[in-house]
Amino acid sequence: MRWGERRARDRFVLGSRWGEKITVSTPRPRSSTKHPSRRSTARTRRGARAIERSEGTSGEQVDGREPEETRDVGTMSFSLPVLPYEYAALEPYIDATTMNIHHTKHHQAYINNLNGAIEKTAELKGKTLEEIVQEVSSVPAEVKTVVRNNGGGHWNHCFFWKCMTSPSDTAGPMGDLKEAIEKSFGSVDEMKAKFNAAAAGRFGSGWAWLGCKDDGSLVITSTPNQDNPMMSGLAEEMCRPVLGLDVWEHAYYLKYQNRRPEYIANFWNVVNWEYLSENYQAIKAGGTAKI
Ligand SMILES: [Fe+2]
Repeated sequence: MRWGERRARDRFVLGSRWGEKITVSTPRPRSSTKHPSRRSTARTRRGARAIERSEGTSGEQVDGREPEETRDVGTMSFSLPVLPYEYAALEPYIDATTMNIHHTKHHQAYINNLNGAIEKTAELKGKTLEEIVQEVSSVPAEVKTVVRNNGGGHWNHCFFWKCMTSPSDTAGPMGDLKEAIEKSFGSVDEMKAKFNAAAAGRFGSGWAWLGCKDDGSLVITSTPNQDNPMMSGLAEEMCRPVLGLDVWEHAYYLKYQNRRPEYIANFWNVVNWEYLSENYQAIKAGGTAKI
């Protein structure tokens, strides 16, 4: 079956497992700066939830599944995900102060605004974040812009945090993903050059993406503001993200000021290639990245 022949619902539901009542009232970065392997990620998540339960801030896990997103099914409101590393873990390439403000202020603001729109829009209640993002064109007109900006902002930032890891844990692309990059771009360096150009060339605020199209090919694209390449009817180049880079000034200005190309070049020192490989495999299987 070609990927494009799958029903949209089937494609996206695989990455959306939000039956759990999981709330995290206080963002709590991990205590280690080491990049968590899949096993250690699960271990630290379990540890964090144990702390949260002891503090009365979290609900119970259902069916033994790992939560992909923080959401309270009682209120249907989204909440801030916990970072898989400390704010200082990406130093010296992305500074701790920027990470702290970016996560606790900017990302939180998108969540607050999205929750506000959901609260007053019956059509949005019960939808997953991916469904909201993908189907934003059909959101009621009175909240469409708010949902486009803030639903996109929430998904994009959840994804962005996981695309990064401590500099000591970036090994470069491997396996199927490396082969796919070489097939689509000729080489990893050529892919990086196109990605860097897209990120640097985005006028104003937005994002650069490495994504996978329905025909299986990889593509570099860019979106304005908080748009996402899964936004049907809005994205110039529809694809499912493998990697994303935030090029809003709030992501780099404290350290880099107007030197966006330097921020982009240094970003490659903190790319979590293991997560990118997982994303690519999930997409190949008909799903999307797990945020
Ligand atoms: Fe941002």
